[in-house]
Amino acid sequence: MIDLAAVRAATPGLDGGQVFLDSAGSSLPPRVVTDTVVDHLRREAEIGGYRAANERLDDLAAVKTSIATLIGATADTIALSDSATRSWADFAYSVPLRPGDRILISGADYASNAISALQRAARTGATVEHIPSDADGRLDTAALAAMLDERVRLVSLQHAPTNGGLVNPVAEATRIAHEAGALVLLDACQSIGQLPIDVAALDVDALSATGRKWLRGPRGTGFLYVRAELARSMEPDRLDLHGAQWVRPGEYRLAEDASRFEFWECDVAARLGLGAAVDYLLALGPEAVYAAVADRAAHLRALLPELPGVTVRDLGIEHSGIVSFTVDGHDPVLLRDRLAGQGVTVTVSHASSTLLDMTGRGLAAVIRASPHCFVSPADLDHFVATLAELTR
Ligand SMILES: Cc1ncc(COP(=O)(O)O)c(C=O)c1O
Repeated sequence: MIDLAAVRAATPGLDGGQVFLDSAGSSLPPRVVTDTVVDHLRREAEIGGYRAANERLDDLAAVKTSIATLIGATADTIALSDSATRSWADFAYSVPLRPGDRILISGADYASNAISALQRAARTGATVEHIPSDADGRLDTAALAAMLDERVRLVSLQHAPTNGGLVNPVAEATRIAHEAGALVLLDACQSIGQLPIDVAALDVDALSATGRKWLRGPRGTGFLYVRAELARSMEPDRLDLHGAQWVRPGEYRLAEDASRFEFWECDVAARLGLGAAVDYLLALGPEAVYAAVADRAAHLRALLPELPGVTVRDLGIEHSGIVSFTVDGHDPVLLRDRLAGQGVTVTVSHASSTLLDMTGRGLAAVIRASPHCFVSPADLDHFVATLAELTR
């Protein structure tokens, strides 16, 4: 069990008494994260960015070790980036494609992934096809099996989508995709930091993630995991002098590990902040944090249907910490803003972010409440009471 009082005390954003339910958007960082970032920015201002980075080389290397510890990988399989989308695209654009090749995306796939897949397909003569969902709204593994053939090069799986509490059967879908020889790229943007991730157990070839959501890291951070053999053999679509070395006038040599997917220039302060966020999570105990998130979300899912006109929209069997809902007769954006006026932060997920799923269900937008472990039961009661008041 986490110590709720200690976790709240370590989160300066809660000092003013707000109810914060947007960790699926951009969470409130623990104090240590902000301090780490600000301290490094100050140091850069004192001695310049290069010397400041040189002072922290060990800490920078440790960021990858911490991430690897969290997901059951090794540091050489991690490439740091500035977002989940960047990481997803870094891998997807590097998969060799020829005319007639196929990319499969899932019903809950995020718009940025779909757009990248469509652009890549248009440029190479490949196609993008959608894996249907089953009756529970999860990725339909039987349908996936039926779609696979030797032309499927890449299967994009969504661990937990942006617009609701669905959790997909990733390990099973990956096993099926691998039987047909396809590569599996997992979008773990909404699961990292709130659901257990073990890349060895899931067996995915690559995984993309962001820092600012459930990991509670700074904005502009993310990472890509690439299976060790691929990290040593796959050529990234773009390179610089960090991902490769210019060894002779007409020759370059790729870095030996997943750092070939990185560029040299980066926000060092933010990366150190990401490391601090992951270390904070590891120190709390990831399993205890995941349990607390699941507990808060389940509590909310039980409370919300008691309000007139409220429909919880979460799909699936097992649920993540994202609670999505609509309220009859109320515009989600207006309601979000009125809640913000009462000190309650939620956000809205629009159909354009998860087009296949939302249009399939006839939904234009849902309100998204995503409580992290620092949210108290009293916060949830306050949120539901405020919502009841605003929608009466
Ligand atoms: C499921 C999912 N995938 C990918 C992304 C993109 O993440 P980023 O903004 O870090 O690129 C998001 C962002 O909300 C998301 O929810």
